[in-house]
Amino acid sequence: MATAVLGLQWGDEGKGKLTHLLAREADMVVRFNGGPNAGHTVIDRGVKFGTHLVPAGVFYEGTTSVLASGMVIDLAILREEMEQVSAHLGSTPRILIAQNAHLILPYHRMLEELEGSGSHFGTTRRGIAPTYSDKAKKIGIRAGDLLRPGDLERRLEHRLTLLRRDWPEAEEIQALTAKELVRDQLELAEPFLSWIGDATTRIARALAEGDTVLFEGAQGTLLDVDHGTFPYVTSSSTTFAGLGNSIGIAVPDVAHRLGIAKAYQTRVGAGPFPTELTGIEGDALREKGGEYGVTTGRPRRCGWLDGVALHYAVRLNGVTSLALTKLDVLDELDEISVAVSYRSNGETIGRFPLAAEELAACEPVYEALPGWGVSTAGARAFEDLPAAAVTYIERIESVAGVPVEMISVGPEPEATIRREL
Ligand code: IMP
Repeated sequence: MATAVLGLQWGDEGKGKLTHLLAREADMVVRFNGGPNAGHTVIDRGVKFGTHLVPAGVFYEGTTSVLASGMVIDLAILREEMEQVSAHLGSTPRILIAQNAHLILPYHRMLEELEGSGSHFGTTRRGIAPTYSDKAKKIGIRAGDLLRPGDLERRLEHRLTLLRRDWPEAEEIQALTAKELVRDQLELAEPFLSWIGDATTRIARALAEGDTVLFEGAQGTLLDVDHGTFPYVTSSSTTFAGLGNSIGIAVPDVAHRLGIAKAYQTRVGAGPFPTELTGIEGDALREKGGEYGVTTGRPRRCGWLDGVALHYAVRLNGVTSLALTKLDVLDELDEISVAVSYRSNGETIGRFPLAAEELAACEPVYEALPGWGVSTAGARAFEDLPAAAVTYIERIESVAGVPVEMISVGPEPEATIRREL
């Protein structure tokens, strides 16, 4: 049985907690996109972690964690996270790194600064866009290259020649040497070298043998490079369709496609956000929800749940059920709104506009629902929830077109309601 966990908003849906919870039951956990731009908050046996690269499977002995081909990997960050997790567990987790995954090298971060590529659209400054761009230009360095240092050095020489030509004035670029890069990368990768290999075959085998496989998405659907709010997006495919390509299996048999949505909406960085609350209501959601980036510490923009965007994201991913997170953040509100359509050019529309400029011009049409005014933090079963919270959840189900299977009411793993559907 395989499950895919997919973010349905602009990232930060609380996937970290839920993947950590579901990973407990998994034989294999596969992270399939993005890199250290992601920030997953995980509480493992009472200790809080902000992970960026390691899949949630690392917290469980006997679970294999895979960093699939669609990822971009910064070895310095991977090494640091693996050391932290190993110290916490008292043993080294089992990981497998796809040989086709691309590496984030020091010059990718430099390029992000030099090009100012992210300054307008927003970036986590982890070198993500330059690394995916090198992949598309066929001048990227892959994890598998580490196994052939001679080829690695030749490829780096070629990359550095282009960089030196393009950035004659940039001292930090001119100072780079292939030899030193090879040395540094091999030193960082030293504990992982024997774990770099053919991830596709291993994942295919696990699926064929009926293992419990969890596919862990990063970022969110609305940040997808093709189907998100381009150009205010990340550089990878964040959807279920991207999963198949990343793992190298055309039609992966993943019957359970769990879409994660926060009970309200947030966005970090620039880009259209029709349901944004810019006044004290937005500030109150930010404070109550602790809406500050795990990776960058930036305050997140906050607003009401966007049902139009949610419906779009559900369709795009073929989501089979939802997990609704941070419901408890809404506990004290008298009234809660959900956008059910947009007003655009004098018309009411139910579709999600594909052009960022068109989306930015949309006015949300809200439906107001009563708040519940009591704490849901202690709820552990659906029946424990107040009637108004149930009404809110049922409205989300009708807007999204799929049932809500899980509800999170606090950061701890126990603060989760699971429903039999
Ligand atoms: P990049 O992925 O660093 O290129 O950043 C591109 C945009 O995506 C920026 O607006 C980031 O804030 C946003 N972004 C990237 N990863 C995440 C994430 O995991 N959560 C939320 N926003 C993200």
